[in-house]
Amino acid sequence: MKNVFDISKRPITKILMVVMLALLAIGTWMFHNFYESRIGEEQPIPFSHRVHVENKNISCVVCHEGAIQTSRAGVPPVETCMLCHEKIIVHHPEIQKVHEHYNNNEPIYWEKVNEVPDFVHFNHSLHTFRQVDCGECHGNIKAMDRVSRVHELNMGFCVECHKEEKASIDCFTCHR
Ligand code: HEC
Ligand code: HEC
Ligand code: HEC
Ligand code: HEC
Ligand code: HEC
Repeated sequence: MKNVFDISKRPITKILMVVMLALLAIGTWMFHNFYESRIGEEQPIPFSHRVHVENKNISCVVCHEGAIQTSRAGVPPVETCMLCHEKIIVHHPEIQKVHEHYNNNEPIYWEKVNEVPDFVHFNHSLHTFRQVDCGECHGNIKAMDRVSRVHELNMGFCVECHKEEKASIDCFTCHR
């Protein structure tokens, strides 16, 4: 005899299951594409590019001077923060943490946001020299309270611009 109480056999249950799976998939997709990419990594100290770059007009290379001269842009050491925060808002609780790091000679370990694998050769200064804007690869940093990755820095992304800009697309340029 057919078991009328077995809800798993009713068509409505199947439809609901499909709808729920679809919602879950859409939710996951939205999370990865919007939530994560807009908010970015949580950092040990809530450093805001919006406050420093947009509100206070501090140039990128005050803190990332490597981007002009070397392959790596680099993140600033505590000493760079102290250039200003030795005097500015010293009683702010987050700045007190910065002072502690400085006094104890302890670096701040910032979470990495952008990274390419070791087998990829990338060089910041060559791009800066050719006046490729930081934003082409990193998005509108000055609007961000928490830096997030805006572009997947994959091969397609690099090669597409290299073709447009007539830069080399020789394999050896990026893999050596
Ligand atoms: C006052 C110092 C300061 C200035 C000015 C500054 N940054 Fe930063 N930047 C930092 C610090 C500290 C971090 C690490 C913490 C974080 O990710 O927010 C960082 C992180 C980043 C990262 C992510 C690093 C990673 O791991 O991939 C990018 C990209 C970046 N900055 C780009 C810029 C650009 C572009 C500008 C100018 C529009 C700029 N920064 C101006 C201090 C600064
Ligand atoms: C060139 C000067 C300068 C440098 C370098 C600098 N800051 Fe600042 N920072 C400022 C100014 C100006 C403010 C805004 C102060 C105010 O609100 O009156 C500020 C504000 C802040 C705040 C409070 C932001 C808020 O949300 O209210 C934090 C936290 C902070 N900075 C952390 C850092 C850290 C960490 C570094 C080093 C990576 C750093 N700053 C480097 C000038 C600087
Ligand atoms: C052509 C693309 C491109 C441009 C333009 C660019 N970056 Fe980057 N950036 C990258 C890539 C790729 C990485 C990851 C590098 C790695 O893993 O070795 C990176 C990493 C970083 C980091 C993390 C620390 C580091 O050096 O790895 C910071 C900070 C940063 N960039 C800041 C900047 C600033 C500031 C500018 C403008 C002066 C800039 N970038 C311009 C592609 C770019
Ligand atoms: C928005 C445009 C753009 C993007 C994105 C871009 N590049 Fe470039 N790249 C350039 C330009 C322009 C040059 C300079 C070419 C020249 O001087 O002839 C260049 C030069 C280079 C060079 C030096 C080439 C040489 O002849 O020595 C390397 C290496 C390089 N890029 C790697 C990368 C990698 C890896 C990525 C992706 C993570 C990337 N680029 C993304 C525009 C871009
Ligand atoms: C302008 C820079 C650039 C050039 C030119 C380039 N690549 Fe790449 N390649 C990359 C980057 C960046 C990655 C890392 C992709 C990632 O992280 O997903 C990569 C990854 C790869 C991988 C690893 C597999 C993968 O997809 O992750 C292979 C294999 C590869 N490249 C082969 C080549 C060959 C062959 C050529 C020449 C026809 C070439 N690449 C030219 C930037 C470049």
